[in-house]
Amino acid sequence: MTDEIQPIDLASVDHVLKTTRSVRKRLDFERPVPMALIREALDIALQAPTGANTQTWRFMVVTDPAAREAIADCYRKAAAAYVEGRTALSRTGVTMMREYEAEDLRQQQRAALMKSGGYLIQHLHKAPVMIIPCIEGRFERDDVFTQASMWGSILPATWSLMLALRARRLASAWTTLHLQYEREISALLGIPDDYTQAALLPVAWLTGGDLKPAARLPLAEVAFQNRWEQHLD
Ligand SMILES: Cc1cc2nc3c(=O)[nH]c(=O)nc-3n(C[C@H](O)[C@H](O)[C@H](O)COP(=O)(O)O)c2cc1C
Repeated sequence: MTDEIQPIDLASVDHVLKTTRSVRKRLDFERPVPMALIREALDIALQAPTGANTQTWRFMVVTDPAAREAIADCYRKAAAAYVEGRTALSRTGVTMMREYEAEDLRQQQRAALMKSGGYLIQHLHKAPVMIIPCIEGRFERDDVFTQASMWGSILPATWSLMLALRARRLASAWTTLHLQYEREISALLGIPDDYTQAALLPVAWLTGGDLKPAARLPLAEVAFQNRWEQHLD
């Protein structure tokens, strides 16, 4: 802790927090991404919390074109299984194909999401950099306490990474589809068997203008006070 209280530029901080989108169609596949910026963003991500201060996170930065092609191939195959409802996740109903009432915001946003998601499926291999955050341990068969502790030790850092990239005008997208081929990708990259991959972020410069805040379900609908049936004042 430092004695001096640094002023915080709330407007800029809030802008980054509100406009860090999953960018797919506006990734610049031509302009090289300086590794110094990736290093800076990763260094910031290391300020995220980890359970018991274990810091058992690892970040695989993939720039090799053949490896990026192979990962994109896995992503494409995984996307086909997802769209055809052949994944375990499909059985939970938490997928892009979930249907909502016509007036539901998520129903209205679905077509654009499908289009953008489809674009990434076709073009992922062109992303100049891919980052795969990993965490030590395998915990898929463990209880909720263990799972929350393990995921909670890598997902905050992953989100910090996206925010730090965004603050440097780099775009990325949170993706997980490739995890259907986690074993194959670990073998490809030499990730040890006792590490779990958490996501895959394609990273590139952002093309076009600025990003905007997204429309979301209203706070009143999703936040409660004291009891589940009582919405936050
Ligand atoms: C856990 C998780 C998994 C996701 N997996 C994918 C994915 O595999 N492919 C993809 O295109 N987007 C993926 N997304 C991005 C979501 O579709 C996106 O966050 C959502 O549509 C909201 O858009 P926004 O991030 O631009 O605000 C994922 C997001 C999360 C949080």
